Amino acid sequence: MAKTTKNKVVIQKKKSVLFIASEANPFAGTGGLADVIGSLPKALAKSGEFDVRVVIPLYKDFSSLYRDKLRFVGNFNVPLSWRNQYCGVFEYDYEGVKFYFLDNEFYFLRDGLYGFYDDGERFAFFSKASLDLMRYLDFYPDIVHAHDWQSALSVIYLKTKYRYEYGYDKIKTMFTIHNIEYQGKYGKEVLGDVVGLDDGCYADLEYDNCINLLKGAMVLSDVVSTVSPTYAEEIKYDFFSHGLSPIVNAVSYKTVGILNGIDQTVYNPELDDRTFAKYTANDLSGKAVCKKELQKMLGLPEKENVPIIAMISRLVGHKGVDLLKCVIDELLCEKVQLVILGKGEKQYEEFFKKVQDEYNTKCRTIIAYNKDLSSKIYSGADIFLMPSKSEPCGLSQMIAAKYGTVPVVRKTGGLADSITPYNLDRKGGNGFRFDNYNAHEMLYVLKDAVFTYGDKETWNKLVKTAMDTDFSWKKSATEYEKVYNKLL
Ligand code: GLC
Repeated sequence: MAKTTKNKVVIQKKKSVLFIASEANPFAGTGGLADVIGSLPKALAKSGEFDVRVVIPLYKDFSSLYRDKLRFVGNFNVPLSWRNQYCGVFEYDYEGVKFYFLDNEFYFLRDGLYGFYDDGERFAFFSKASLDLMRYLDFYPDIVHAHDWQSALSVIYLKTKYRYEYGYDKIKTMFTIHNIEYQGKYGKEVLGDVVGLDDGCYADLEYDNCINLLKGAMVLSDVVSTVSPTYAEEIKYDFFSHGLSPIVNAVSYKTVGILNGIDQTVYNPELDDRTFAKYTANDLSGKAVCKKELQKMLGLPEKENVPIIAMISRLVGHKGVDLLKCVIDELLCEKVQLVILGKGEKQYEEFFKKVQDEYNTKCRTIIAYNKDLSSKIYSGADIFLMPSKSEPCGLSQMIAAKYGTVPVVRKTGGLADSITPYNLDRKGGNGFRFDNYNAHEMLYVLKDAVFTYGDKETWNKLVKTAMDTDFSWKKSATEYEKVYNKLL
């Protein structure tokens, strides 16, 4: 930015932020983190205050739509303890944000993003390479914004090994926890042999006699954040913290909770090409088409007035599937249809497949992760169930609301911060909410939603309120900017 004072032109450099993360849509992703890294930088770039860039690994599972479009920048070597590893750099400009992709086939040319015996080493390499990239490009950002345990080491290296190095010494750090369950825990020997840090760093990284990367980044980062204000409070307690509550409490003085948004241009029934018909909050006729076609496609009876309850979720314990399991027979006694889409633990997959066999005219279980089908279900269903035991933020409840599929959620984390309960005062509200992790409490509220669905006028108002809720990134991006500016 150029400013003219009396006789001279002063060039003001834009402040810069480098996001370091393990996944980003639309390039490579497995969950909500990819959505955030694909959309928050874009929202920040739009406001124009920061030069925002992102770095992620170049995986084998990289979107084929983009692979050929990447530009090769060059390569350098990354020393990692006794290793010396190749790192190729590719770049791509995507909607106002520069993305860098780090290539090393030994670490990343594998099927899948995570779950390998050497994930610790893979992401130590990635974190260190992301810092060495700065020297290679001669681009030292004002702020490093790292996400989850996979990039925790970038914060840790910055505050230890790189602390007094030219260019790195002034960089401020923000570390965001998307889910405290995943911490990056390793044996002590990893510190020297893999991470390449000396014993002096042990105290910062040690927790419960292990190396805990999440803990290290929480302690060393200038600011810690979580993806909703409620989750930031919840993880102070053992029930939510997966063992880390003492650390959460110790760093609470520098912790903020900022609710995620969603990309409302992507999750929009007016624009979505994957749905059977398009619609808006003011004209829901398309939604009725979506419902009929969904029932037809799934081989469910085409009944206009029977509500479809949908659950699109990973089938794992913390998503609250046990609650549904517990009251499934009572729920399916009602005049409802149930559609479940997701993959996860075998026990749940098997259970819900059996439910489909038993209640063939009422339930469909699709074991898959399928974006096309997700859109068809979000748009065709009436009620969206998300009874999570814990939920740092959650995106599906916001997406469902945008498609006019009224969310029924448990009051936890981001679900509590994004869904206001109609069932409490029967006036405002964009969904239904229950408090306790209790199957019959959930069933009671679900039945209330089914009952309310019978009153078309009230229901349509609720659908409209849900669709009109502002879940855009704009508000959150402003909050991140405030934190960045405070840091600088
Ligand atoms: C993690 C959390 C989820 C959150 C997402 C993006 O996947 O489990 O609640 O929405 O990260 O921050």
